[in-house]
Amino acid sequence: MSIDVSAIREEFPILAREIYGKPLVYLDSAASAQKPQAVIEAMTHAMEYSYANVHRGLHLLSNEATTAFEDARATVATFLNAASPDEIVFTSGGTDAINLVSYALGVDEIREGDEIILSLMEHHSNIVPWHLLRERKGAVLKWLDVTDDGEIDLDVYRSLFTPRTKLVAISHMSNVLGAPTPAKALTQIAHEYGAKILFDGCQAAVHGKIDVRDIGCDFYAVTGHKLYGPTGIGVLYGRMDVLKTLPPYRGGGEMIDTVTTDTVTYNDPPHRFEAGTPPIVEAIGLGAALLWLSAKGIDAVAAHETALRTHATEELRKLNFVRIYGQSAEKAPIIAFAVDGAHPHDVSAILDRQGVALRAGHHCAQPLMKRLGVTATARASLALYNTHDDVEALIKALHKTHEMLS
Ligand SMILES: Cc1ncc(COP(=O)(O)O)c(C=O)c1O
Repeated sequence: MSIDVSAIREEFPILAREIYGKPLVYLDSAASAQKPQAVIEAMTHAMEYSYANVHRGLHLLSNEATTAFEDARATVATFLNAASPDEIVFTSGGTDAINLVSYALGVDEIREGDEIILSLMEHHSNIVPWHLLRERKGAVLKWLDVTDDGEIDLDVYRSLFTPRTKLVAISHMSNVLGAPTPAKALTQIAHEYGAKILFDGCQAAVHGKIDVRDIGCDFYAVTGHKLYGPTGIGVLYGRMDVLKTLPPYRGGGEMIDTVTTDTVTYNDPPHRFEAGTPPIVEAIGLGAALLWLSAKGIDAVAAHETALRTHATEELRKLNFVRIYGQSAEKAPIIAFAVDGAHPHDVSAILDRQGVALRAGHHCAQPLMKRLGVTATARASLALYNTHDDVEALIKALHKTHEMLS
């Protein structure tokens, strides 16, 4: 099965836009992906036809909304191959999913002197929640180095474990280098030492099949808006035996069993972690996005993205004024680069005038920037709606940018 990119592009209304009179070349999907009509329609339908608050209602609209919301949870469970929809906690995003784990583990499980292993290529979303735990509980952060390509030496990883290691919190794919990490091996080693492992899957879940049961991890965090779904929704997968041991993250409606003036008892997972009215329409939108993406065939999508990444890398390598960061053979179409003598912000601003939207900065990965010896890079990130013409447009625009800046 291969994908029909022209037909896919028709499904994204925004891709018909012009930017400063030029066709839009959108190369910023790793920051946030555009939305297909299927997602826009599912959310509009939910609001126009079937909207009410979920779970508590006894009327038809509430039942319909509850069914759509819980169907979305089941869709996420299938997408990640979780054992049950009850292992899927809806959060407000990837960041919120990681904060949930850091808060809940910090209540009892992680104490002063306990160790948490992080890699040097984490997004700040998977760093700062652990710094908060360091500040709150005296946890010790231990850092796993990565190669220039974002690869991990498993012996070095193993050497970081001690009897105090409680958790590994690590990216399943770098948002800068595009390199995937060997999730199953990382998990096996963590479990050998009795530590739990959390994957930040915000990038990895977009580019290949995720099977949390095969990986065997304890937690897996995903965000909706990079997966062609809306903002305001994310997912924490937690293995049920682990979720059951965690205390609540926030208090409010829905997450309780009983409340009296003197006591409170809590609901079972996942509801224990979903205080208050959840992001109902956003969850429905995420469900629609995952059904839409799965229908395209995740392998076919990956094959198209690999072809785009190979093309873009080959063309960028021909430019003697460009340096690429991260050349892992397995990498996703996330390409960080520098243009000689130019600040990435200037590169991005000039490319924008030519219709090419990409990101420049530290990509919320300052420890990785330090490791690479830079303060910022430009980053082109491609998705299933990008074409080989988009790659050519980037290269042409880079030639012009270089001419203007040199
Ligand atoms: C690897 C990674 N983790 C976490 C996040 C945070 O996701 P969100 O902003 O949706 O909470 C991002 C977003 O850029 C990311 O790239």
